[in-house]
Amino acid sequence: MAKAKTQFICSNCGFNSARYLGRCPNCGEWGTFVEEKIQPDNANRKARVGMDGKSAKVEAINSVSLEETPKVATGLQELNRVLGGGVVAGTLILIGGDPGIGKSTLLLQVSGQLSKHGKVLYVTGEESASQVKIRADRLQVGGDDFYLYPETDMGAIKEQVAQLKPDYLIIDSVQTMQEPDLTSPIGSVAQIREVTADLMQIAKTNNISIFIVGHVTKGGVIAGPKILEHMVDTVLYFEGDQHYQYRILRAVKNRFGATNELGIFEMRDQGLHEVANPSEIFLEERLSGATGSAIVAALEGSRPILVELQALVTPSVFGNAQRTATGLDRNRVSLIMAVLEKRTQLLLQNQDAYLKAAGGVKLDEPAIDLAVAVAIASSYQNKGTRPDDVFIGEIGLTGEIRSVADLASRLKEAAKLGFARAIVPKNNLQGMTLPKGLRVLGVATLKEALELALSGD
Ligand code: TYD
Ligand code: MG
Repeated sequence: MAKAKTQFICSNCGFNSARYLGRCPNCGEWGTFVEEKIQPDNANRKARVGMDGKSAKVEAINSVSLEETPKVATGLQELNRVLGGGVVAGTLILIGGDPGIGKSTLLLQVSGQLSKHGKVLYVTGEESASQVKIRADRLQVGGDDFYLYPETDMGAIKEQVAQLKPDYLIIDSVQTMQEPDLTSPIGSVAQIREVTADLMQIAKTNNISIFIVGHVTKGGVIAGPKILEHMVDTVLYFEGDQHYQYRILRAVKNRFGATNELGIFEMRDQGLHEVANPSEIFLEERLSGATGSAIVAALEGSRPILVELQALVTPSVFGNAQRTATGLDRNRVSLIMAVLEKRTQLLLQNQDAYLKAAGGVKLDEPAIDLAVAVAIASSYQNKGTRPDDVFIGEIGLTGEIRSVADLASRLKEAAKLGFARAIVPKNNLQGMTLPKGLRVLGVATLKEALELALSGD
């Protein structure tokens, strides 16, 4: 039977096809198919071995011995938190993020920390060794067990790994690495897939932990196939607004820990600094008694963060009222404005509204609804809010305040930061022990909440 020499693969989901397709029948995306060469007599098949590089065998589940997975703490608490304690030996960790967001900086700092625990080999495919060295000096990162290797050829990298026997390998970035016996261009789906498969083999055979940097495309996914995310053990995203100094590290997949944890860093001249108390920063610059400001205790993962939400509501000059939201979902803002209009008789339809979450954070959970509504009403009515009030609650379409997840830890954080009152969903309060020093007021409707918030006493 004649064998096809090339195949087409969807760069979004990895679906294979013998011919080019405009739209992927599997994931429905358009224009995602790329050509890929089929390896002669399937090199992968020959090399098929178990996870640890030896032949696998079938075992009864009850007799499988439990391998210990000790975690090495990295010295960066925020990273440890996101990884679920630390780095597990022999695992692949993918760090995705926009170009320039600080992935190389983060990994350079992590390498410095890890070199205290073992040998680190930092493979840089984007910058020269001296460029990395200049940056490392600025970050005061170094160490005897920290090696730099400006290389993009996977063959050479494998050789170096065999010689140097590092405990940690950094690949910056996967899009610049190349399999020598693959003719597809660097950064193509085929290359990225083979490089990652190779790295997986290196990690499992030598028990090396590998950090892989992956750039993110405009759409916000890691460039290359989604397969990349399936292959690795942990996927972290490094996010943030280039115009703000805060960076958020988020786990979207983690075989060794929870995925909803967040690490917060601040990008300074001397690299990334950990932010242990994010609320203090997000509240730092607020003016007391200003109109259009409301504090929310939002939950990011298991971590409560207090953030100031700001609204500016002004009569619209043009026919169509504008709604602009930074760090918040615009549809959510429109919906809350509609509920305010209908249920509390605020005439907002001919008003422009600009909403903003302070400090460049992105908030997307229903519990922020109430604070958004209070900020809008405060600005529209020109009545100041109390600077020591915090608002928590989801708003329903009938103007009811609905209960939220984990109110207890939100209130604890508000009490810790010295807030005096919390306005929260009444339904949440049954059987709850409240933190000391915080007056907690349960409300059932948006109307009640606004009366409390804007009464001016
Ligand atoms: P970088 O780590 O190169 O980003 P990535 O690898 O994700 O592309 O970060 C580059 C940006 O970080 C650059 O715009 C400068 C800034 N930066 C600082 O502000 N302070 C520093 O100490 C360093 C090293 C970088
Ligand atoms: Mg980089």
